[in-house]
Amino acid sequence: MFICSCNGLTDKDVHAAVGAGATRPQEVYASRKCRAKCGNCVPGVVCMLRQALKEQKALAALRTVSEISADNGLYQAVA
Ligand code: FES
Repeated sequence: MFICSCNGLTDKDVHAAVGAGATRPQEVYASRKCRAKCGNCVPGVVCMLRQALKEQKALAALRTVSEISADNGLYQAVA
């Protein structure tokens, strides 16, 4: 889904940018070698960026729990 028609930025681009370490809107645009032009997309990019960062944080926490469970021999009991 396109979220920035000026630059052809998609939701997948936002997720890829977050996966590469982006935490700020301008880093999302920079990951595609562009920047906000008209600015209409900025609120949507911010919203999607926040959501992607939340998901990334939740996934990291889940991995930590899995690692702790595996270290304690609990993984097979849970899985
Ligand atoms: S829609 Fe993104 S800068 Fe115009």
